[in-house]
Amino acid sequence: MDTATEKTAVDKAQDYYNSSPADRFYFKIWGGEHIHVGIYNHPDESIKDASPRIVQMMASKLKFTPETKILDLGSGYGGAARYLAKRFGSQITCLNLSETQNERNEQFNKKAGLDHLITVVEGNFEDIPFPDNSFDVVWSQDAMVHSSERAQVVKEVDRVLNKDGDFIFTDLMQTFDCPKSILKPVLDRIHLDSLGSFGFYVEQARKLDMKKAEVVDLSEHLTTHYRRVMEETQKNYDEMVEICGKEYIDTMIQGLKHWVEAGKNDHLSWGIVHMDKSEAV
Ligand SMILES: C[S@@+](CC[C@H](N)C(=O)[O-])C[C@H]1O[C@@H](n2cnc3c(N)ncnc32)[C@H](O)[C@@H]1O
Repeated sequence: MDTATEKTAVDKAQDYYNSSPADRFYFKIWGGEHIHVGIYNHPDESIKDASPRIVQMMASKLKFTPETKILDLGSGYGGAARYLAKRFGSQITCLNLSETQNERNEQFNKKAGLDHLITVVEGNFEDIPFPDNSFDVVWSQDAMVHSSERAQVVKEVDRVLNKDGDFIFTDLMQTFDCPKSILKPVLDRIHLDSLGSFGFYVEQARKLDMKKAEVVDLSEHLTTHYRRVMEETQKNYDEMVEICGKEYIDTMIQGLKHWVEAGKNDHLSWGIVHMDKSEAV
C-alpha cells in the first residue's frame, strides 16, 4: 500500500467499529451498553456488572448539575451518557465516528426517554466540531487508545473546555518499559498504531492550561477484564463464530491472549486521568 492510500488511525478505527463482526462481538460479549474495562469486585464477576462501576467512580470525582454541559469523546453505545443524564439530568453530547454505534446509541436514548438530554454527533475527536469554551466537562473512556495524535486530542479538549472545566478519561496504555516485541501483537488486535502512558498524559496537561493532572492507577482490572472477555468468547464460541465469523473470533481470542499476558507481566496500564483547568499545581 503506498502512502497516498495508507489508512490513518482514524480510518482504521472507523472501519473497525462500523464492521458487523466487531459490532456484534462488542454488543454480545461486552453487554450492549459499555465497551470499556470494568472494575471487578471479584475475579469471576460478569462483564456487565463490572462495567458500570468505572463510570460511577469517574462521576464521583466531579460535581454535575442539570446545567453541566458534557462532551463524551468516542462514546460507543452511549452507556456513560445515559448514566450521567439519568443520574444528574445533565446535557451530554456524544461525539463518535462510528455510524453503526451512533444509531444504536440514539435508539437506546429514545427507549430510555433520555433523548432530550443526549445529542449524538458523528465526528473525529482529533478535530472536535465545536467552538472554543463550549463544555464544562469533557469525558472519555478507552477511546483515545485509537488515536495516533493524542497530544492533538488533549489540545482540542483544552480548546473546547470552559476556563474552569474538567477533562476526565480512562485509556488503555503501556508502561514506560514495555518491550516492542510485547507491544506489537497487542497493537495488532484492534489495529492500533501506538499506546499512550500515564506519563505522556501528565506531560500534555503540564504543557497546556490544565494545571492539575490526577492519576488513579487501576491497571489490575485491565488483566481481569480481558481474561473475562476471553473466557466469555470461548464459552460462547459456537454462537460467536456463527454471528461474527470463525476468522474474526479466532483472531480475537489470539489477540486477547496477548493482552492478558502483557497485563499480567505489568506491561500495560489502565486507569483514570483527571485534568482540571481551574486548579494550579
Ligand atoms: C473501546 S470503544 C469505547 C466506547 C465508549 N467510550 C465506552 O466506553 O463504551 C472506543 C470508541 O472510540 C471511538 N473512536 C475511536 N477513534 C475515534 C475518533 N478519532 N473520533 C471519535 N471517536 C473515535 C470508536 O468509534 C469507539 O466508539
